[in-house]
Amino acid sequence: NQLALWGGRFEGGPADALAHLSKSTHFDWRLALYDVAGSKAHARELNRAGLLTKTELVDMIKALEQLETDVLSGAFVAAPGDEDVHTALERGLLERAGDLGGKLRAGRSRNDQIATFIRMYLRDESRRIGGRVLDLAEALIDLAEKSGDAIMPGRTHLQHAQPVLVAHHLLAHAWPLLRDVARLEDADRRAAVSPYGSGALAGNTLSMNSKAIAEELGFDGVTENSIDGTASRDIAAEYAFVFALIGINLSRISEEIIIWNTKEFSFVTLDDAFSTGSSIMPQKKNPDVAELARGKSGRMIGDLTGLLATLKALPLAYDRDLQEDKEPIFDQVDTLDALLPAMTGMIATMALHYDRMAELAPQGFSLATDIAEWLVKQGVAFRDAHDISGSCVRLCEERGIELADMTDEDFASIDERLTPEVRSVLTVEGSVASRNGIGGTAPERVAEQRENARAELARL
Ligand code: ARG
Repeated sequence: NQLALWGGRFEGGPADALAHLSKSTHFDWRLALYDVAGSKAHARELNRAGLLTKTELVDMIKALEQLETDVLSGAFVAAPGDEDVHTALERGLLERAGDLGGKLRAGRSRNDQIATFIRMYLRDESRRIGGRVLDLAEALIDLAEKSGDAIMPGRTHLQHAQPVLVAHHLLAHAWPLLRDVARLEDADRRAAVSPYGSGALAGNTLSMNSKAIAEELGFDGVTENSIDGTASRDIAAEYAFVFALIGINLSRISEEIIIWNTKEFSFVTLDDAFSTGSSIMPQKKNPDVAELARGKSGRMIGDLTGLLATLKALPLAYDRDLQEDKEPIFDQVDTLDALLPAMTGMIATMALHYDRMAELAPQGFSLATDIAEWLVKQGVAFRDAHDISGSCVRLCEERGIELADMTDEDFASIDERLTPEVRSVLTVEGSVASRNGIGGTAPERVAEQRENARAELARL
């Protein structure tokens, strides 16, 4: 078997069924440029270790650079007989450097190579994806700023709870996204350690300076343990978790937009450019971006759980099972790449109907807590205050009115301590203004919060 990297002890080539099963070039090709970068760094180390002469190094680097150009232009691609990206690139190197190319494989294994390249890929892609998450967070913060002091019904259990600023609610969706980017930043500290030089599992015998290779490949250091370096994929799983979590956060924004976009709510109108129609119902305008985000979050959770299941109970060190680490990660990256710009576009262009939100904000007895807390300020125990306010709600429900419709006599009939002054808290403006502790929905607090969110956005 001329083409494989491991033909020596075999009498014949692999069965077609095995070759077909084993093949990974259709997905691991996206690591090709990392592989070439690793090879260049490796060649320089072989030279320092006295295993490549100065001229050999020059020729080797020239051939690798040619290979890199050809990979970039598409002039060199994996052939049907190539088992994986490493096999294909060795063939490409031999085609360009002749027999000299055969010297490059000394002191390294595909096991330490692939463990390194998946980290390089994750470090690069997570920065790019993180940038797109920040674009979405910024769109939410901008929309919050545009919403000024507009008020909407705040909900718990999807029921009217207490009025809140629209901006406060929008920012509540921005913070988790900012934390996701911080999570990626944090994961990078652990991914910034290179397994290159671990060899197959036990380390290399060629006294190569793995630190120099790591540095050339953009790492901060080298893994402490060569077995761990080649066998672990917790780093990949950590990124897969954050990617899945980004998907989940997108799905929570999406679900609310889908609800807000119904006729019954009428809180938002989506721009035509971010809505789709129906093939049979001419009147339809559907929130497909949000629905796809909701749907694809399930797929990204599947990617994560698939990877975790692959790792479960896997003995050390490298097992071929580990080849299964790549497709779930690639799928998450592709999914987020498709979703994030569409989500940002949808949010940046949607119209919010503040009048409708304001109309609903005081409904559903959302100011009942305010009555109770006003009583507390008059010296009533909260337990009694809760009861008294609850009686107001019952009276309103019986009569089909809202709390603000109650007369002074109605209040007095429930409890003499409910003097007409209670009306001061029976407006949604009064209610939000009174929640002025840190993190509260009072306009000045929300403005402060928005600037803090912008500062975090700028830091990340
Ligand atoms: N294609 C393999 C992977 O992605 C590379 C490592 C193969 N190593 C081996 N000993 N077969 O994991």
